[in-house]
Amino acid sequence: MSAQAVSVGGLSLKNPVLVASGTFGYGREFAPLFDLSRLGGIMVKGVSVTPWAGNAGVRVAETESGMLNAIGLQNPGLQHFLDVDWPWLRRFDTAVVVNVVGHSVAEYVAVTEAVTAAGVGAVELNVSCPNIADGLVFGTDERALFGLVSAVRKVTALPLIVKLSPNTSGPLPYARAAVEAGADALSLINTVLGVAIDRNSGQTVLGNRTGGLSGPAIRPIALRFVLEVAAALPVDLIGMGGIATAQDAVSFLQAGAGAVAVGTALFRDPWTALRIIDELPAALSTAGYQTVDEAVGRAVRQERERRDGRGRS
Ligand SMILES: Cc1cc2nc3c(=O)[nH]c(=O)nc-3n(C[C@H](O)[C@H](O)[C@H](O)COP(=O)(O)O)c2cc1C
Repeated sequence: MSAQAVSVGGLSLKNPVLVASGTFGYGREFAPLFDLSRLGGIMVKGVSVTPWAGNAGVRVAETESGMLNAIGLQNPGLQHFLDVDWPWLRRFDTAVVVNVVGHSVAEYVAVTEAVTAAGVGAVELNVSCPNIADGLVFGTDERALFGLVSAVRKVTALPLIVKLSPNTSGPLPYARAAVEAGADALSLINTVLGVAIDRNSGQTVLGNRTGGLSGPAIRPIALRFVLEVAAALPVDLIGMGGIATAQDAVSFLQAGAGAVAVGTALFRDPWTALRIIDELPAALSTAGYQTVDEAVGRAVRQERERRDGRGRS
């Protein structure tokens, strides 16, 4: 096993760097640029039972340190994924994680059952989209979340990842509910609710009024969510939120994530994930680690030692 290989929630990755859902489509636009097999994994755009049209424009707005989006989970639907995207994607030697969305438990279950039968690598339940009317129903109600994850758990033996929202007062109640219902791993975080106002018209820029903030601005929030969950629960984590450099990735590993995903940074430089994969060994060794596993949870251990009164190690 190479020093870069990791396992997260039972999902084996050749390296700990994935690309985040919704920022890489189903991979086609990136395939002419580099070999997708170099990625640790691809978290595809959300897949729903039927095609979803998404929100009316304007759908994106740039900010000083990130972007707001209100795409609204536009996607061509499950059948298109099974007929067109999966047969094309499966040729690459990388873990394919299907991001699943739905308006009801039955819809999440139907998509999960179908992609499990198709043989994808893992399922990631998106319960944290701030850009559709009912996108946060499951992600901000522990009982609803427990019910959803329990139902999905019954129909798949694949690694089951639940993607949590930062639009709550903290991750722990939701992380606990997901883990107790059978989640193998959590991904943290989805986008942070925000608004952009057009200075000339005085109106909201986005057609949906609110959008999800991503990029460097949310990195400290994401690190907080990862650290809090890692310190409290024995569950594997995939960290995401503003990761743009190998040093950013190391920070997420130290906070307790077993792997990371690169999202918005890809819009500025589509090779960002590859650069991080190439530079990670040097960044780890500069920080004093030989392997990814050595780095994981470093900050968590320090936090526990501080809590136990043993000071910094
Ligand atoms: C344009 C856009 C579309 C997204 N679509 C999805 C999606 O379909 N499902 C999902 O779980 N997250 C989606 N996300 C959230 C990202 O996967 C990621 O969690 C978030 O953007 C934080 O990472 P980043 O700051 O590196 O982008 C989307 C983000 C962006 C910017």
